[in-house]
Amino acid sequence: MAAETNSESLPATMAAMLLTGHGDVDQLAYREDVPVPRPAAGEVLVKVTATAKNNTDRKAREGLYPTKEKGDTTSFQIGGAPTLTFPRIQGADVAGRVIAVGEGVDAARIGERGLLDFNLYADERRDINLTPDYYGHGADGGFAEYIAVPADQFHAIPNPELADAEIAALGMCSYQTGLHMLNVARVSAGERVLVTGASGGVGTALIQMCRALGAIPYALSKADKADALRELGAEAVLDRSDMSDFTEQVTAVTGGSPIDAVMDLVGGEMTDRFIDTMVFDMRARSDYPRLSIAGASGGNVSEIMWTRIYLYQVQLFGVSHGTRAEAAQLVDWIRAGQLRPVLHGAFPLSRLHEAERYFVDRGSDYLGKIVIVPDSEWEQHGAPFAVGDKR
Ligand SMILES: NC(=O)c1ccc[n+]([C@@H]2O[C@H](COP(=O)([O-])OP(=O)(O)OC[C@H]3O[C@@H](n4cnc5c(N)ncnc54)[C@H](OP(=O)(O)O)[C@@H]3O)[C@@H](O)[C@H]2O)c1
Repeated sequence: MAAETNSESLPATMAAMLLTGHGDVDQLAYREDVPVPRPAAGEVLVKVTATAKNNTDRKAREGLYPTKEKGDTTSFQIGGAPTLTFPRIQGADVAGRVIAVGEGVDAARIGERGLLDFNLYADERRDINLTPDYYGHGADGGFAEYIAVPADQFHAIPNPELADAEIAALGMCSYQTGLHMLNVARVSAGERVLVTGASGGVGTALIQMCRALGAIPYALSKADKADALRELGAEAVLDRSDMSDFTEQVTAVTGGSPIDAVMDLVGGEMTDRFIDTMVFDMRARSDYPRLSIAGASGGNVSEIMWTRIYLYQVQLFGVSHGTRAEAAQLVDWIRAGQLRPVLHGAFPLSRLHEAERYFVDRGSDYLGKIVIVPDSEWEQHGAPFAVGDKR
């Protein structure tokens, strides 16, 4: 790749998908005349080769992040105001190549392939992140040909065995959030962990990271995904289409032991049953029951008796994003080959509308991530992973 440090040699415009307001996919407009960002001091300019899709793209578009009034159409607020403004380029998990650097960044980084840590951090702290905003929400993301990001948040991933689309599928939105879920719940080697929404982006990440930590993941999913989830590392797979006697189903696979910690991405009516699997015999436990919550695929409101929470001393952890330290841990694991990309397939950027519908109406063979590739990069980085015959 030709090295470019001179901003004047960069193209003036690029293709990008603009989110123009809250609503359905008709709010997404494909444009080819969007100005190419220039890297500011401390930034690198990345030529995007692949960006993973996340639930948050859909939720932010539809305005499904009410934090107070049920049914509000809004996005979460930081400092009293929504940081999502329009038009916005979405897409959080960006893989690509550095093609220019801003002032103060080593020009030797030009040509480097890497993965973006998608957070818009408020400060330099490594072990806490109180402002869960991110590229693709409070700033433009990767559904475009170029993105300018902080140099220290674009992490080199040289691994020749990984394609760019696979690096995007290992993106931080799923993995860093999942790692934070495990860390705040103090999940340690030997503990039994129930992972719900197990076939999704975060679920498949959690199963692998439990194994990386030496913990034992039990997956809640659908029967037709059981083989793939066991192959990924799940000790056993429970079928969410039959949740009757759920605790008995769980003890049948744990040999009678309680679940030590639940990683809940589903919420809704199911969460109360997940708590059952931890508290049915407190004498059999060696630590408090722990429930990490980072998603609500099954419903935004759960009815749980407070007496159950405090009498059984259930520790609840609301998890949004992870920390700089966790991003560094993930990059180490990826470079060491300890995490495996779970890539369902790719769509070209100009067909993001189709990808959004496919993401919602997914078939039974769906596991892991969908990746979006700029049309100009499609033949090299997208076509080998094209979803079905959708090229
Ligand atoms: N807090 C954060 O920063 C953060 C970051 C990433 C994701 N999330 C949230 O975490 C959740 C999962 O994200 P993801 O990216 O993994 O999503 P995903 O790839 O769409 O996976 C969600 C999984 O949840 C299960 N599911 C879907 N609908 C369900 C229902 N009605 N009842 C029970 N299970 C259902 C399905 O798995 P099975 O078929 O295997 O059961 C599905 O594969 C979402 O709510 C997302 O918004 C939050």
